[in-house]
Amino acid sequence: MAILKVARLGHPVLRKVAAPVPEGEIRSAEIQRFIDDMIETMREYNGAGLAANQVHALKQIAVIEVQKSPQHPEAPEIPLTVLVNPVVTRLTDEMMGGWEGCLSIPDMRGIVPRYTAVTLQALDREGQRIDVKANDFFARVIQHEADHLNGIVYVDRMRDLSTLTHLAEWNRYWLGDPDQDD
Ligand code: NI
Repeated sequence: MAILKVARLGHPVLRKVAAPVPEGEIRSAEIQRFIDDMIETMREYNGAGLAANQVHALKQIAVIEVQKSPQHPEAPEIPLTVLVNPVVTRLTDEMMGGWEGCLSIPDMRGIVPRYTAVTLQALDREGQRIDVKANDFFARVIQHEADHLNGIVYVDRMRDLSTLTHLAEWNRYWLGDPDQDD
């Protein structure tokens, strides 16, 4: 396995639309190795998710994982999820603001409105169909990663850039602010 180089905001690859992976290629050694590398890269940099565009590959593949952390025992947990060719459909018009960050926009946070309920259709790394309903935090992470595969980053979705914050200032001024965190 290998830790991949992460593209940062301004690299054109983040603004391109990724191509679907042909179903017959998902189980190939090349794609399987790439998925393993994406997982290792996401974990190395403590990301909640990673999309292939972010590691310079225009393939519709994203990985998501949020592990329990002793510092934030209340934070929702998401088991390791590999998405190939994801299609995300909103189930509601309701949107909620929540803090997001991105490995391609290092050490920044901002409040982003997202649909609170979506359906996710995709293939997993074995090529099996995923068809689930996702809410709240899981729905947020799915929308963030699916956006990447369409060349969109979270700052594009912010309605108000006044919450765009460096991490040190976020820790100092915003952490735990109940009015902003949702
Ligand atoms: Ni991101």
